[in-house]
Amino acid sequence: MLPELHTSIPGPRSREAAEALRRYESRNVTYLDAEFPVFWERAAGVNVWDVDGNRFLDWTSAFGVAGLGHTAPAVREALVDQAGRLLHGMGDVHPTPLKARLCERLSALTFERWGAGRGKTILGNSGFEAVEAALKTALLATWKPGVIAFEGAYHGLGYGALEVAGTPYFREPFHAQLKDFATLLPYPHGPSIPGGDEFPDGPEGWEERLEAQIDAAVAAKPIGAILVEPIQGRGGEIVPPRGFLPLLRRVCDRHGLLLILDEIYTGLNRTGALFACDHSGVVPDLLCTAKALTSGFPLSACVGREAVMDAWPLSQGEALHTSTFLGNPLGCAMALASLEIHARPETAAHVRERGERLKAALRGIASPLIKDVRGVGLLVAIEFALDGLALNNLVKRALRDGLILLQSGPRGDVLGFTPPFDIADLEIDFTAERIATYLS
Ligand SMILES: Cc1ncc(COP(=O)(O)O)c(C=O)c1O
Repeated sequence: MLPELHTSIPGPRSREAAEALRRYESRNVTYLDAEFPVFWERAAGVNVWDVDGNRFLDWTSAFGVAGLGHTAPAVREALVDQAGRLLHGMGDVHPTPLKARLCERLSALTFERWGAGRGKTILGNSGFEAVEAALKTALLATWKPGVIAFEGAYHGLGYGALEVAGTPYFREPFHAQLKDFATLLPYPHGPSIPGGDEFPDGPEGWEERLEAQIDAAVAAKPIGAILVEPIQGRGGEIVPPRGFLPLLRRVCDRHGLLLILDEIYTGLNRTGALFACDHSGVVPDLLCTAKALTSGFPLSACVGREAVMDAWPLSQGEALHTSTFLGNPLGCAMALASLEIHARPETAAHVRERGERLKAALRGIASPLIKDVRGVGLLVAIEFALDGLALNNLVKRALRDGLILLQSGPRGDVLGFTPPFDIADLEIDFTAERIATYLS
């Protein structure tokens, strides 16, 4: 449904909540000014209602979580049903069978589906915890501490994940407490090909260059793994050439490195395939998933090939890596319900169709301020010839029209479009028309 606005944006109840945050929340967390933010009260499908009764169209799926739609009925039912019985278990001591079922399901949908044997899982809460579980696993499996990661990458903000952050903004203030085990390499990409492959060609000679850079990094220090997003999300929806993951797989095999895919953003049909690596048929050694896994509960997973995961010693009663809420039953129930829908081939096909429709509409906006429209499935972006501040003003103007948009990229010059999968033609066309107006 299209936006419906009743009061000024932000309305009085949002402004009151903002005032409380200004007083009581750490001032670095929520960005507050006279025009931003609105405070959410409820949501359904592609729509969000704020505390002042305004209805918005959510182009973000709330950071890529609600691909199946906000408050997806099957997921909500699973949550309500579980909430009536048990809210919390003892994750690594006396867990619930839901945890076992989720690990089994994740294995079936990843390594078993890829014909690579069984997958074993470490569950966590936030996405960055899945990345850190993968980093720890890589060390135990290779005894080599170095990790190759990529410029522009975002893997979360815990200290392990910060170490492999490709954006100095997040890393630098805390550099003194980091360990310097990462080698950052350029992430290859080139301009998109309207009407052609969703994956661009890449700059001339990128393959030889990247392979030589990896060879040099491996010669310089003991590297155990390559960690990579199949498409960079927060880094600005950067799509690499189709041959990128196959090249990394080949080089990893040649050097005996583990390939860790961070599919926290790209996974679970966001790109029109269950995982983005399915587009190239590359099987990783470790895979990180979170966000859309539960459709709205903090639960993440690091799933790995059995032989790699078995580098962890057998638990003798005190786990080396665990947390209080590990395998929380509410999250597991929601994940199982979400995966049921994600596993249907028609879900991926629907995302591919919607993604093409969205890109066509955004490419129809005629403006010299648009540099590129790109993306795979419903991980789509417009890159602007505007600075971050100007684009921020556009985002605020869109909010007043009932559109929830999010900037991305290190310069904030990209608008990401990662809507719930059921975004309708009318909603796409309305949004494209509004953006065209802002740019005219
Ligand atoms: C690719 C990727 N990895 C990791 C993370 C971190 O996830 P979380 O914020 O749940 O820790 C994100 C979050 O945006 C992400 O996009």
